[in-house]
Amino acid sequence: MNISIVGTGYVGLVTGTCFAELGHNVMCVDNDTRKIEMLEKLKMPIYEEGLEDLVRKNVEAGRIQFTTSINEGTDFAEVIFIAVGTPPGYRGQANLSYVEQVGRYVAEHMTSYRLLVEKSTVPVNTGEQLKRTVTKYLREDVPFDVASNPEFLREGTALKDAFHPDRIVIGVESERASTLLREIYNPIVEKTGCELLEMNIASAELTKHASNSFLATKISFINAVSRVCELAGADVEQVAHGMGLDHRIGHRFLNAGVGYGGSCFPKDVDAFVHLSDQIGYDFKLLREVQKINHGQREHLMQKIQHELWVIQNKKIAILGLAFKPGTDDIREAPSLYFVPQLLEAGADLRLWDPIAEGKFRELYPDLDYRSDLMDCVKDADMALILTDWPEVSNIDLGKLGKSMKTPVIIDGRNMYDPDTVRSHGITYHSIGRP
Ligand SMILES: NC(=O)c1ccc[n+]([C@@H]2O[C@H](COP(=O)([O-])OP(=O)(O)OC[C@H]3O[C@@H](n4cnc5c(N)ncnc54)[C@H](O)[C@@H]3O)[C@@H](O)[C@H]2O)c1
Repeated sequence: MNISIVGTGYVGLVTGTCFAELGHNVMCVDNDTRKIEMLEKLKMPIYEEGLEDLVRKNVEAGRIQFTTSINEGTDFAEVIFIAVGTPPGYRGQANLSYVEQVGRYVAEHMTSYRLLVEKSTVPVNTGEQLKRTVTKYLREDVPFDVASNPEFLREGTALKDAFHPDRIVIGVESERASTLLREIYNPIVEKTGCELLEMNIASAELTKHASNSFLATKISFINAVSRVCELAGADVEQVAHGMGLDHRIGHRFLNAGVGYGGSCFPKDVDAFVHLSDQIGYDFKLLREVQKINHGQREHLMQKIQHELWVIQNKKIAILGLAFKPGTDDIREAPSLYFVPQLLEAGADLRLWDPIAEGKFRELYPDLDYRSDLMDCVKDADMALILTDWPEVSNIDLGKLGKSMKTPVIIDGRNMYDPDTVRSHGITYHSIGRP
């Protein structure tokens, strides 16, 4: 089937590549000329393991092409996925201007039936607004459908998630839309046995916001427990392990740390709180989740302050800039909270990240970036761990302790066993552990 995907970012590019690999013909559209030029040269604008090879394979097979023209995308396919950004807007409300723009452009250009599929994460009832927009801007009386197909992939394992999803959710209002989406996903359903859930559009939209908000709640819950652990002399790692063995709870997303970040959780929780408020429900639980998350960063900052006493002129090695390992994405990453604060306090920073350095440099071009982890910590007064990269967990702690000026680690990801670190003469502060 021919499929157009508008928005060629983390979601659009991975989804498009996945559809092409399944045998569909895909046109990826983006209004960022630089991105499309890169892709045409088979250079990836984002980092995702395995993506480059798969894009190359499918471009060479003639199954995927790139364009900046939304008109071309509209002509190319009956089904148009919208995978543009929905960043936080005014007071946490999702900014839906890019989604609206795509709806308008497609409506103005289409001359026969089109199915517009929301792939972007959008608040409930966006489908209704999209339908209104398309109806308003249609030049002639052409039939169309709107559907929702929320995306659950995770950066860092995006391709695996795309080919082996836990579930596929489609929100549809017509037989035609259902048939088209089922045809697209049929190869995955047949191969993996994954369940395809069909529901109405509002339920599909809500499934995504509710899922992300629940995961964020789990993280904030264990972070709140970590604070109690610190006060009570308990170890949050042991508590979380004990909790997680209960199958109803599970271990995942029970890692205490510096709090959640990234392009999804913070903005999706914000948008869910805002949307609920708008339609008449004060989602106090999620407001608390947000507060706890922010509090974790402040709490870690206090640990830094407490340990160093004076931050000015202290050499601090920042280990990890990405919001999580396996990606170059720095949106809402903890590094974006700590780096400006530490700079303001007069710290002498050196920064290390194996993948996200380039993205961070775009914001902070003049900082001291080190490509070698050991070089980054050499002569430092403190190492601050913000991303749980494997390189950091595998570091030779003995060597690290000897090469620092004062061997101090502030660990925002609870990466090491405290006794082991201390056996190397390193002062070690982590989250929720005695
Ligand atoms: N990144 C994730 O892990 C993830 C996971 C699930 C869902 N989502 C959701 O998917 C959506 C996209 O996220 P992303 O991380 O891929 O964002 P992104 O910023 O990486 O990509 C969005 C792309 O859309 C393009 N764009 C914006 N307006 C356009 C227009 N009018 N025409 C053509 N292109 C346009 C931008 O240039 C950009 O390349 C968001 O709603 C996000 O919440 C993201």
